[in-house]
Amino acid sequence: MKIDVLTIFPEFFREVFDFGIIRRAKLAGIVEINVHDIREYAVDKHKMVDDRPFGGGDGMVLKPEPIFAAIEDLIGTSERAAYPQGTCVVLLSPQGPPFGQPAAMELADTADHLVIICGRYEGVDERVNEALVTDEISIGDYVLSGGEPAAVVVVDSIVRLLPDALGSETSAENDSFSRGLLDCPHYTRPAEFRGMKVPDVLLNGDHAEIEKWRYQRALEKTRALRPDLIKNEEG
Ligand code: ADE
Repeated sequence: MKIDVLTIFPEFFREVFDFGIIRRAKLAGIVEINVHDIREYAVDKHKMVDDRPFGGGDGMVLKPEPIFAAIEDLIGTSERAAYPQGTCVVLLSPQGPPFGQPAAMELADTADHLVIICGRYEGVDERVNEALVTDEISIGDYVLSGGEPAAVVVVDSIVRLLPDALGSETSAENDSFSRGLLDCPHYTRPAEFRGMKVPDVLLNGDHAEIEKWRYQRALEKTRALRPDLIKNEEG
């Protein structure tokens, strides 16, 4: 997968994709991530990337010209209908439908070129949305100062789902949400710590029993903390 991030704060991303699973996936050639400064695509001599909103109001709005130019450079066209198959242009904004594990899975499965536009909280000229964007995404019902932290969330959740990105194929399947349940609790050594014991079932090596216990605990935890998820779980 190729991921291009468009931002007015490229420095924000300087090291954030250089750790853990994302770093390993980059080194293994599973994903290529490039961060682009929208300002480099600005057309006027002042390199303006934003301007005051028509109709008045607070704040600045990201201008369309640099973003159209960036998309033309990265995709080869700003005609959405002419995007090559597997191309997704994501706009991060609090207005999009809320992002979740199903959307991460869908993008991991279907996209091979992801262009992520980091909006500013004041807004992005709507013509970007109308003409270029295939998926508007919000990471939750709260307002960030810009899409940059959201881009990290979206990239991380997608990259770990790409084939071979995780050491073990089953790790992602057992993640919270992928079965419609929260994850079960986990323990490591020591078996007893400050009087708190690891449940016996995890120490006895009976894998069928362990699986049953994990499923039960995942169910209990979900019932207690996220009852809204239970309706998705059959049985
Ligand atoms: N930009 C500002 N707030 C956001 C949010 N909640 N999700 C995605 N992008 C945003």
